Amino acid sequence: MKDLTILKIGGSVLTHKHDERSLRTDMINQVANEIADVQRDGLILVHGAGSYGHPQAAKHFSIEKDLAADAFAVFDINANVMELDMYFVSHLVDSKAPAVALHPMNFTLLDEGRIHSMMTEQIVEMLKRDFIPVLHGDVVFDRKQGYAILSGDQIVSYLARELGAKRVGVAVDVDGVMGKDGELIEHITPRNLDGVTFTESSTIDVTGAMRGKIRELLELAEAGIDSYIFNGMKKGNIKRWLEGEKILSTHISD
Ligand SMILES: Nc1ncnc2c1ncn2[C@@H]1O[C@H](COP(=O)(O)OP(=O)(O)OP(=O)(O)O)[C@@H](O)[C@H]1O
Ligand SMILES: [Mg+2]
Repeated sequence: MKDLTILKIGGSVLTHKHDERSLRTDMINQVANEIADVQRDGLILVHGAGSYGHPQAAKHFSIEKDLAADAFAVFDINANVMELDMYFVSHLVDSKAPAVALHPMNFTLLDEGRIHSMMTEQIVEMLKRDFIPVLHGDVVFDRKQGYAILSGDQIVSYLARELGAKRVGVAVDVDGVMGKDGELIEHITPRNLDGVTFTESSTIDVTGAMRGKIRELLELAEAGIDSYIFNGMKKGNIKRWLEGEKILSTHISD
C-alpha cells in the first residue's frame, strides 16, 4: 500500500499506568485533536491498553483457572480495554477524525502468542475510503494456549509488514529509549542492543514494556521497515510526527 502510516498511541499516554482504570482525559483530548488536525492518506492507529488491560491481565493470568474462569478473565480484560477504546475513539470522531474501532479479538488468531492470522482485507478497504482503522492490544484466542494477550506493539509490527507501511511510529510517555545514565539513545540496531539496559518498569506491563516493544520493532526492522519511538505526551509531537517533521525520538533500524 502506498504511503501507509501506522501510529501506536501507548497505553502509557492514554492512561495512568500506576493506577488501575485511570484515564488521562487531558491526553486523550490532546491526542485526538492532534490526529484530527492532520490531513493524511493511509493512517492506521493502534492503541495500548494501559491501566485498562495490563493490571487485569496480570491478575487473571497468574492464577490457576478452569474454562469458566478463563471466560471470566477474557470478559474482564476485553471489557476494560473496550471501555478505553470507546472513550478514545469517541474523542477522535468528536474531533472530526474519520476513526472506526476494530477489535482484534474478533478477527485474529494467535499461535503461541504470535499472530497466526488476522483479517486485514477489511482494513485495506477502509483505507481506500480514507477511514482510520483503530485497533488495540487485546485478549485473543491462541490455538495452542487458549486465550492469550496480544500487545498493540505486536499488532503494529505485524500490520506494518503485512501491508507494507512507509512510516511507523510508537508514542509513549518518555522521549524514547534511555541509556544507563538517562540519556536518550537516538538509534537502536541489533548491533548496539547490548548497550541498552531496560529498567524494570514500576508499572504493570504484561507484554514486556520497553523491552518487548524493542523486540517487536527490531523484528520489523529486519523486514526492512524502520520505526520511531517518541514522546506522545508532549504537546504537538503527534501532529508533527504525522506531518513528517523530525522530532526527538529513538530510531529503530536493522
Ligand atoms: N531503557 C528504557 N528507556 C525508556 N523507557 C524504559 C526503558 N526501560 C523501561 N522503560 C519503561 O517503558 C515504559 C514504556 O513502555 P510501556 O509498555 O509501559 O508503555 P506503552 O507501551 O505505551 O503502554 P501499553 O503497553 O499499555 O501500550 C516507560 O514508561 C518506562 O518506564
Ligand atoms: Mg507496553
